[in-house]
Amino acid sequence: SSQSVYRATTTAPVNIAVIKYWGKRDTTLNLPTNSSLSVTLSQRSLRTLTTASCSSIYPAEDTLNLNGKPQDIQSSKRTLACFFPLRIVSENNFPTAAGLASSAAGFAALVRAVADLYQLPQSPNELSRIARQGSGSACRSLMGGYVAWRTGELADGSDSLAEEVAPASHWPEMRALVLVVSAEKKDVPSTEGMQTTVNTSDLFATRAQSVVPERMSAIEAAIQARDFPKFAEITMRDSNTFHATCLDSWPPIFYMNDVSRAAVRLVHDINTAVGKTVAAYTFDAGPNAVIYYEEKDSELVAGTVKAILGANTIGWEGAFYERLANVTAP
Ligand code: PMV
Repeated sequence: SSQSVYRATTTAPVNIAVIKYWGKRDTTLNLPTNSSLSVTLSQRSLRTLTTASCSSIYPAEDTLNLNGKPQDIQSSKRTLACFFPLRIVSENNFPTAAGLASSAAGFAALVRAVADLYQLPQSPNELSRIARQGSGSACRSLMGGYVAWRTGELADGSDSLAEEVAPASHWPEMRALVLVVSAEKKDVPSTEGMQTTVNTSDLFATRAQSVVPERMSAIEAAIQARDFPKFAEITMRDSNTFHATCLDSWPPIFYMNDVSRAAVRLVHDINTAVGKTVAAYTFDAGPNAVIYYEEKDSELVAGTVKAILGANTIGWEGAFYERLANVTAP
């Protein structure tokens, strides 16, 4: 009836890039300057839960509630009065806006909930095109496993989509340890940081044009071959190159801190001690580390990292294990 409330509830996982997205060629459509590739994490520890509902009995204004707090969304009252207003209620089970990809999970869940509510027959690839416009990295959270976001070439962004490179089941031994160095809101938001880098860093163009394209093909081959040392080296190098372009920005941007650098040194020390690469670190636009390793090296990697950093680190807020999400495209 006209009094009905229609609802759709969904969840979306976070994803952690191993080839980083950093730089927009179109800031309105969120079109990237380089392709990127990420790993989707399990929803057990990091996920967004979102409910979209609409009804004629709602006040004529769309609302968005995030983690229990109403958010400010602009609207044209006259137009909205003719629609069934939307109510979005979203909740993260991990720190929001702390460099843990909350906007990726958030926008992916939002887009999927709205598509479900209106029963739009959209494939994950198609939904990724919409989610990308909320937050670039969100386009990679609509699929599980190993996900690539291709830059695309068209000015309207219609070919700038995410696609699954391999499902999580392709590499069941893969694990990710999330080290929450700080749950504070990040210093420089990613959109602002990207624009500073694009406009001022001399290293930026080299990374986007000649470094990342080769790394994309190399890491896709490493994933297909389940070659952990290759996957790990490219992941660490790309994290370092991304943070180097931040340091090369003017004024410079620092996302990593002393604890982050201690994690980098520890991973290299573990790899050197073992004589092969068993662990890889990566950092987004914040100080928190994600460390990838294989299950067989769990004691060595996760055990050592937690024992050493967990005991000696100021600002440590705990670590939790993550298994790759076995989210398959519906
Ligand atoms: O999706 P955004 O606009 O929050 O940007 C994310 C950028 C990085 O997390 C640093 C890299 C990435 O590819 O996820």
